[in-house]
Amino acid sequence: MDGPSGTGKSSVSRQLATRLEASYLDTGAMYRVATLRVLRSGVDLDDPAAIAVAVKELPLTIGTDPSREVILLDGEDVSSEIRGNAVTKAVSAVSAVPEVREQLVALQRDLTGAAGRIVVEGRDIGTVVLPEADVKIYLTASAEARASRRNAQNIAEGRGDDFEAVLADVQRRDNLDSTRKVSPLRPAEDAVLVDTSDLNKDEVIDELYRVVAERISAG
Ligand code: DC
Repeated sequence: MDGPSGTGKSSVSRQLATRLEASYLDTGAMYRVATLRVLRSGVDLDDPAAIAVAVKELPLTIGTDPSREVILLDGEDVSSEIRGNAVTKAVSAVSAVPEVREQLVALQRDLTGAAGRIVVEGRDIGTVVLPEADVKIYLTASAEARASRRNAQNIAEGRGDDFEAVLADVQRRDNLDSTRKVSPLRPAEDAVLVDTSDLNKDEVIDELYRVVAERISAG
């Protein structure tokens, strides 16, 4: 399951996994943990070599049970901190470093290989991490629809209400993620595109379930 931020990807992927009785892996959370590690080590975000060193032995634990989120850095629960502004602002710089991607992609393949049936969510799952996946879905939505969802989430979680700033951040990250040299964000050639702009969460999950069932029975 790939696509830009704010398409509702995380919550629908998790619920789709539950409905499919599958495991679930949030690879964005892994890049966020790496970014937290970088921020805590005080490394300059303009120094890719130093970022690679800071992330090299990343003591990351990530669960694959869709009903129970486990995200630990060196044994500490960082599931909330990795969604904060500091990490969100820095994550594009860290996820653009080739050594960081190589390391996390290897871990993603290990976790996926051990899991059996699994929904894996990210930006490059269909293109790079699991090119042989049975079903590839690329979620899209307009930048405005995505910013509006993220802003509603910020309000609900007490992080303030500023639609224009959120929209600017969505556009800035889209641009960084789709123009970076390593694994730019793009749909795999054989991905099914699902536009979530005008669908609510339940409608998206129904549509995804339908796509998966259709692909599996055809394959
Ligand atoms: O899905 P998210 O917003 O939690 O992802 C955080 C960042 O990590 C996002 O800016 C893009 C990056 N990312 C990536 O480069 N590759 C992935 N497979 C997943 C996320």
